[in-house]
Amino acid sequence: MLVHGNDLIVQDRVDQWAMARWQLLLDPRESDQPLFLRIARAITEDITRGRLVPGQRLPGSRPLAAQLGVHRNTVLAALQELLAQGWLTAERARGTFVSETLPVAAPTASPERRRTPRFPMPPEPDLPSRTRPFRPAPRGMVHLGHGTPDPRLFPVDALARSWRRVLRRDGPALLAYGPSSGNPALRRALAEMLGSLRGVAATPERILVTRGSQMALDLCARSLLSPGDGVAVEALGYRPAWGALRLAGATLHPVPVDDEGMDVGALARLLRRCPLRAVYVTPHHQYPTTVTMSPARRMELLALARQHRLLILEDDYDHEFHYEGRPVLPLASEDDGGTVVYLGTLSKVLAPGLRLGFLASNEAVIERLVRVRELMDLQGDHTMEGAVAEWIEEGDLQRHVRKMRLCYQERREALCEALEKHLAGALSFQVPRGGISLWAQVTPGLEVATWVEACRERGVSLVPGWQHTFDGSDPGALRLVFSSSTPAELRRAAQRMASCLPRGRGVRAAP
Ligand SMILES: Cc1ncc(COP(=O)(O)O)c(C=O)c1O
Repeated sequence: MLVHGNDLIVQDRVDQWAMARWQLLLDPRESDQPLFLRIARAITEDITRGRLVPGQRLPGSRPLAAQLGVHRNTVLAALQELLAQGWLTAERARGTFVSETLPVAAPTASPERRRTPRFPMPPEPDLPSRTRPFRPAPRGMVHLGHGTPDPRLFPVDALARSWRRVLRRDGPALLAYGPSSGNPALRRALAEMLGSLRGVAATPERILVTRGSQMALDLCARSLLSPGDGVAVEALGYRPAWGALRLAGATLHPVPVDDEGMDVGALARLLRRCPLRAVYVTPHHQYPTTVTMSPARRMELLALARQHRLLILEDDYDHEFHYEGRPVLPLASEDDGGTVVYLGTLSKVLAPGLRLGFLASNEAVIERLVRVRELMDLQGDHTMEGAVAEWIEEGDLQRHVRKMRLCYQERREALCEALEKHLAGALSFQVPRGGISLWAQVTPGLEVATWVEACRERGVSLVPGWQHTFDGSDPGALRLVFSSSTPAELRRAAQRMASCLPRGRGVRAAP
């Protein structure tokens, strides 16, 4: 008995020594899995790899939880799972052991295998890489590259109250399947808003609510174009739009832009050379230069489109933000619905994460798009759509817009002043009349890629200009967004950008 007892003590010491050296490592790529399953999987992998051997004792749940920095109950849930599957056995008062008779393991996939499928994938179409931020920003980083509103100014509580009110009131209807064209209340509110504020004659039947205007564009590309159709796009322009058009098989033809927007003369010359089906434009604030298409150009574009039976995809992504007088009305306000499909978004006015966009066109187009939408997404989030509809009806959205307009105007001024003060030798720009960004020319000879990289290191994130050119060449310019940073942050960013310049490139020397 005594000998047996000593054996046990010796065995315990060996176990403790082995366990002290065993470190359970979790695979960070599986971070979307519940934690207890990740722990269970990590243990089975250690068993199949031989890092844990049959009969070996596992550390107690407390030290294991401490090692992993998780709650003990999470470790207990993982151990329960493995006991149930037969990977572990438990002995009363002695602990938990790797089972002597292991279950037949399904061959574990190698990390490489987990990333690539066995089946062949067709060649990848020429798609842009993701251009928007999707990770939390490192602390203190000032973002001048991405055109988003300032999330700190979003009226979270007010939206939460509307959302709760709408769900309480209309819950059973909202939680059932609903129309693919969008929450009827939001279609009504948008139609009213387009009519009264943007001069677009829309009825609810002529509105389709989408998850962001990117989806609206994707639906148009899939449903209104055939593979091989030619589409004219602005170059400089908006890469995600090019991607959606290409995904539908369109052949893109770049048309230059100048300080009046898309060069419609160049478009007319293009039309003589090759047939086109559509043209994608951002006439209100050309993306990324922010210039407004001149009235003459607008007339020419509409006339040209009618003459050649072109579809105009008009992307009016930041209509509300104009600082000098009234906004220019959309092309769609001069159309009877036969030429222009009008794309709008709430991503700039409210928040991109809400994924709320819309499209206005004639009823035949809307019906066609709704049938396609039914197959890919069925419907959007009708509760959120209902909450936003309430906001529009109550005038809250317009109040928010007025507040944001003043705020962004102040930020625009702060950025312009700071650039003049710290970066006059490196950047030149026109003060934008509207929008949430400015387009700055970089002094020739300044290595933009190196500068952008150095700025990132110093806590200022910029999007390199090549993201906006059709052929990926450097346009020698940068789009600087002022909406998402406070005046103080913008001033700090300009100072930091100046500190990253090669010597002598900052403030222009006095003449
Ligand atoms: C030119 C342009 N169109 C549309 C959008 C809005 O896209 P979404 O409504 O899908 O968020 C953006 C946002 O970055 C944009 O810059």
